[in-house]
Amino acid sequence: MNIQKIKDEFIELLRSTERDGVDSVIEELEEAGFFTAPASAGHHLNTEGGLAQHSVNTCRAALAVWEGMKTLEPTLEKEVGRDSVIIASLLHDVCKTDIYVRSVKRRKNALGMWEDSEGYKVSYKNFPMGHGEKSVILLLCYGLEMTDAEMLAIRWHMGAWGVNMNSFEDERCYDTSQKLYPLVSIVQTADHLAASIMERSGEEQDEL
Ligand SMILES: [Fe+2]
Ligand SMILES: [Fe+2]
Repeated sequence: MNIQKIKDEFIELLRSTERDGVDSVIEELEEAGFFTAPASAGHHLNTEGGLAQHSVNTCRAALAVWEGMKTLEPTLEKEVGRDSVIIASLLHDVCKTDIYVRSVKRRKNALGMWEDSEGYKVSYKNFPMGHGEKSVILLLCYGLEMTDAEMLAIRWHMGAWGVNMNSFEDERCYDTSQKLYPLVSIVQTADHLAASIMERSGEEQDEL
């Protein structure tokens, strides 16, 4: 993985929105270690730079979904701007920047022998605020201007997986957001497409 190339693409996409606060977001993300963080501890893109790669993948998928859906539903052109698609998809997982900590695990290799394996463990102690909601709050703290649609698309990007089904308020807020703002479905779909299609690894398929 070429970390610098991914970082450059991330920054170019974000700056293309010309949104107030993007330079401050880039600075804060750099300082927090976003560009070297993995996207997971043991699943897809669990390597340095994985989080930036996943963010760029989600953004590419979101732009493709948005372009494709506009041909089927022309009203979408007016309802959702390119800048909103980029902001919400590229920044949906900034909450993951500080949760993966380097660790060495013992695991069995293919021959059944135990060996040390470098990896990551998860810790939420920096700012235990949740997932999508943590991304929104961090971005507001970084000084990014966001629309309601963008904030809600980031907040609910996990779709039904992120909804507490014991909470009537959660269920209704998710449902209402999705009905009011098409961006919510675009980002949620793009996140899923990035992880399940663009980030498939041979190793994961071997384990099936
Ligand atoms: Fe996420
Ligand atoms: Fe994601």
